[in-house]
Amino acid sequence: MPAVHLVKALFAAALALPSVLADSDGPMVPNYEVHLQLDPTVVLNSSYSLNADVLDEFAMPDTVTEKNVQYIDTVDKALDAQGWSCRIRSIENKSGFDLTYKWRLAINNSDIDGALNTALDDGWNSGQGKYKAQVDWYLSSEELSVQRDHTASASGYSGTEEPSEQDSQSLLIDNAPKMFDDWVYSGWGTTELGSGVIYGPVLTMASAGTWNGVELDIEVWPIENAAGTGIDYLVEASFKTSNYTFASVGRTELQDLLTSKGWFLDESNSKEAMVLANYHPSS
Ligand SMILES: *[C@@H]1O[C@H](CO)[C@@H](O)[C@H](O)[C@H]1NC(C)=O
Ligand SMILES: *[C@@H]1O[C@H](CO)[C@@H](O)[C@H](O)[C@H]1NC(C)=O
Ligand SMILES: *[C@@H]1O[C@H](CO)[C@@H](O)[C@H](O)[C@H]1NC(C)=O
Ligand SMILES: *[C@@H]1O[C@H](CO)[C@@H](O)[C@H](O)[C@H]1NC(C)=O
Repeated sequence: MPAVHLVKALFAAALALPSVLADSDGPMVPNYEVHLQLDPTVVLNSSYSLNADVLDEFAMPDTVTEKNVQYIDTVDKALDAQGWSCRIRSIENKSGFDLTYKWRLAINNSDIDGALNTALDDGWNSGQGKYKAQVDWYLSSEELSVQRDHTASASGYSGTEEPSEQDSQSLLIDNAPKMFDDWVYSGWGTTELGSGVIYGPVLTMASAGTWNGVELDIEVWPIENAAGTGIDYLVEASFKTSNYTFASVGRTELQDLLTSKGWFLDESNSKEAMVLANYHPSS
């Protein structure tokens, strides 16, 4: 934990401050995103597209949206070690690059309020309107994330091409929000980004459909395997809601549906964690 946050945490513990202070903002209010994995050997055809049964079940068109995704961190993952990630996406038919600065915290024993209060001690509160809080609910873990998005452009790129290492550094440094930049010390984030390298890119395919009255997304991520000798296909279904009960009940219902179809994969991976683990940029 960065020194400044450690001090804040000790201070809060010593005075037993209530988590909601008078005249200040309280914990962030998250939405929920449920993530479940599908078995790639069953749901993908020989060209690694979702097969027709899956498209039909969720009323998905057979056109996909390509999203090229890369993460920037140092070779020894200094940003990740502080819970931060920086992502750059280049999306089909969308101009510019999507930049995302995201901070994460593991939720233990399903204690979402506990995590929101820990985040509050770390400086995250409901008054920070430019940041969005989300509970990412995987099969066997939950994570709180707080993220801020920007759109930025750089010249010389077309289609879903991703920016070079140097352009990636500049784009993220130029748009770095203060909470990120000053997390460990003033200018920490941009200092680390200055020696950032690319994890990825991964050219993902997204399909959007409907389930239970909400949008259901399925993404196919061809991720290099850990040995660097081939590709592992991660197929993930997800839906978002601001309603905890809907997320909780829907999660069970979706798992039951996928299981009954023979599509469910009993694994619990974050796409980003897999990319960070499997890619080994050295310069
Ligand atoms: C795989 O599925 C996609 C979409 O359903 C379809 O366009 C494509 O032709 C299929 N490929 C094969 C080899 O069956
Ligand atoms: C992107 O634009 C091309 C050309 O207009 C079109 O064929 C394609 O379907 C579009 N892709 C998406 C995901 O909308
Ligand atoms: C959950 O446990 C992990 C590992 O011990 C810890 O890093 C994290 O801070 C904990 N989360 C909360 C909200 O206390
Ligand atoms: C939340 O979802 C539950 C389960 O679907 C539903 O019964 C309830 O009415 C929803 N609450 C709100 C405020 O929409």
